[in-house]
Amino acid sequence: MPRKPPARPADPSDPPATDWDQVLSAFGPDPHPAPPSASPPAAPAGPLVAARAALERLSTWVPIRSLARRHRRRIIEHLLAMEPRDRYLRFGYSASDEQIHKYALSIDFARDEVLGIFNRRLKLVALAHLAYGQPLPGDPTRTMAEFGVSVLPESRGRGLGGRLFQTAALHARNRGIDTLFIHALSENRPMLRIATAAGAIVERDGSESAAYLRLPPDTFGSQVEQALDRHLGELDFQFKRQAQVLSDFVDSVGEIKAQIDASGRSSKE
Ligand SMILES: CC(C)(COP(=O)(O)OP(=O)(O)OC[C@H]1O[C@@H](n2cnc3c(N)ncnc32)[C@H](O)[C@@H]1OP(=O)(O)O)[C@@H](O)C(=O)NCCC(=O)NCCS
Repeated sequence: MPRKPPARPADPSDPPATDWDQVLSAFGPDPHPAPPSASPPAAPAGPLVAARAALERLSTWVPIRSLARRHRRRIIEHLLAMEPRDRYLRFGYSASDEQIHKYALSIDFARDEVLGIFNRRLKLVALAHLAYGQPLPGDPTRTMAEFGVSVLPESRGRGLGGRLFQTAALHARNRGIDTLFIHALSENRPMLRIATAAGAIVERDGSESAAYLRLPPDTFGSQVEQALDRHLGELDFQFKRQAQVLSDFVDSVGEIKAQIDASGRSSKE
């Protein structure tokens, strides 16, 4: 950071600072007047801004977990829990249970990424599928990933869809993908709101819309951010699992005690 130059010691023969304008006015108007300082000083750039952005992200942090093949059953349960209207918005058609099964079984975990958010009871409340290897129409040199998401109704409006979108953008960027693509129905205001808030350009074609988000190249910072998110997401899941085991144990102790009490009562009778 550049240092401020030391102040010149005051000379007793100097006129008071407030009189300078009066002294100089004797020489006519200033040919190079200083530009008016109407605009406030620029916000500090660099590490401070990055630290502030990181703190903001931390304050809205949501544990997101990368899902694997072994989570297929939970993925199917999550998708089957969607109402017909949400299935229509998610897939672009009213997917039947059978079509949902087929879709879930066709996810290629080796190529794509599936991200999930679990609640305290370990229910999968939000799910995103990031499909890699999609060709970009009109420009085969560019790389693209398609984003699809669903959040269960009771968990909506809390920013989960938006967080999954930001995380998907980070992961795609770290894989060298330059465009994130979302295909949504034009009536799907929440989805299009999430995309435009992140800076995506929306192309509307009647009842359907396509949103394109240009991604910057990855950096050391973006890779660290993804690694940190993954560890914290995993830690959060393990913590919830332990809490669930403990709660199940307490419940079963309660049940056993109730049974003993009941059998004691009946033998007395
Ligand atoms: C789209 C969906 C994933 C959004 O999930 P969510 O967790 O509620 O989303 P968020 O809370 O992160 O954000 C929703 C945004 O839409 C805005 N929104 C909600 N309803 C809206 C409406 N009717 N009109 C305009 N904006 C609306 C919210 O205000 C919020 O924006 P903000 O953060 O700027 O306030 C969820 O509604 C869903 O699962 N829908 C069914 C499946 C689907 O449509 N999938 C997308 C197709 S791939």
